[in-house]
Amino acid sequence: MELPFAESWKIKMVEPIRKSTRAEREKWIKEAHNNVFQLKAEQVYIDLLTDSGTNAMSDRQWAGLMLGDESYAGANSYLKMKKTINDITGFEYVLPTHQGRAAENVLFSCLIKAGDMVPGNSHFDTTKGHIESRKAYAIDCTIDEAKDTQLEIPFKGNVDPIKLDKCLAENADKIPFVIVTITNNTAGGQPVSMENLREVRKIADKYKKAVLFDSARFAENAYFIKTREKGYENKTIKEICKEMFTYADGMTMSAKKDAVVNMGGFIATRVEEWYDKAKIFGIINEGYITYGGMSGRDMNALAIGLDENTEFENLETRIKQVQYLAQRLDEFGIPYQRPAGGHAIFVDASKVLTRVPKEEFPAQTLTVELYLEAGIRGCEIGYLLADRDPVTRENRFGGNDFLRLAIPRRVYTNNHMDVIAVALKNVFDRREQITKGFKITWEADIMRHFTVQLERL
Ligand code: F0G
Repeated sequence: MELPFAESWKIKMVEPIRKSTRAEREKWIKEAHNNVFQLKAEQVYIDLLTDSGTNAMSDRQWAGLMLGDESYAGANSYLKMKKTINDITGFEYVLPTHQGRAAENVLFSCLIKAGDMVPGNSHFDTTKGHIESRKAYAIDCTIDEAKDTQLEIPFKGNVDPIKLDKCLAENADKIPFVIVTITNNTAGGQPVSMENLREVRKIADKYKKAVLFDSARFAENAYFIKTREKGYENKTIKEICKEMFTYADGMTMSAKKDAVVNMGGFIATRVEEWYDKAKIFGIINEGYITYGGMSGRDMNALAIGLDENTEFENLETRIKQVQYLAQRLDEFGIPYQRPAGGHAIFVDASKVLTRVPKEEFPAQTLTVELYLEAGIRGCEIGYLLADRDPVTRENRFGGNDFLRLAIPRRVYTNNHMDVIAVALKNVFDRREQITKGFKITWEADIMRHFTVQLERL
């Protein structure tokens, strides 16, 4: 008999978590204005708010913390981190930042001006925020298939080459660079194929434009290329990563995802001019160029995390857990963005809470229902997160309305996945009785989902 699949690690340290009663949760979510970001973490049983900075580090990473060099300039920890990034990405210049959005802030300060356009595949909300706050426009060129949640294709995160070419043809003078997010978080943690990356490079070259990768989950993207794209079956993850980055001029990185650390980020590039400009913004906003918001110990952990998480076994363990949750949801017929993403399941709220009008935020309603059911905290990636159109100030209802269940790396077991699946099934079973959602009582102008206050209708 073939042995079943199991994790490629064992557990050395644990942290207790606590269940609560429904009555407690009803009180807490009300106090939180029906916004799960406003809950205290101790009011949560299983926390799927994000896979960002919530990962469990390895014993080698913890050991690396003790060896951190905290020198202000030229720390050995920086040099080690730089060497690891050089080896994995092929990018020569490395500027640390405290997290991904800080990398965006520093680099976009050099590259984007008012009136510019930045085409890409479903820009992440901070990416879009850093474009729109500079009075520039994020143009979404994701393939149309990504919107059809039930369609099963291997690379649903891809850029549509026709849309990209058209955007460049019409606006070339306004476009500083093309951005590709790997994996495509907003579309459901969906990967981008190597063929697509190559094609984007070709189109960008045609118009003499740079290409930037938003690389938060690049290793997970490489796993999907290895397991789904012809010609890559026998390549190592590190070989695949190296090839991916040959199609870009630089990257922004949130190390809180695929470098499996709790905090950190960086810019890496082969363009000396970008690095020279970014250094100035980095020093003003983040810190000196060899630490940029990170402690020496954090840079050590980051380097080790990146090295470990660009190995197949680690990625396989992680992504198979997400796929395990997906299988459990399939048993119950719960619709989600198919196939399962690399870091999360994106439940299609518009297909679950069909009786809640979009103006009442179905995915947010489902998020609150799941919390009330079992103390599980997911996150709305839908109409609230989409913010209002900066010009018309209308809600943006054009995209998908998801409840995201993001799985932190190496934190929960498959028993937790079972609890999540059954809790969601219980909500799913009573979906016809859920007819009312929420109305906004207070919201911020931009990135409103973090602080929005909602009232039950
Ligand atoms: N790019 C992508 C694709 C992301 O998913 C994130 C963060 C960022 C950039 C910004 O990085 O958080 O380090 O500043 N995503 C988290 C999430 C917050 O929950 O998906 P950061």
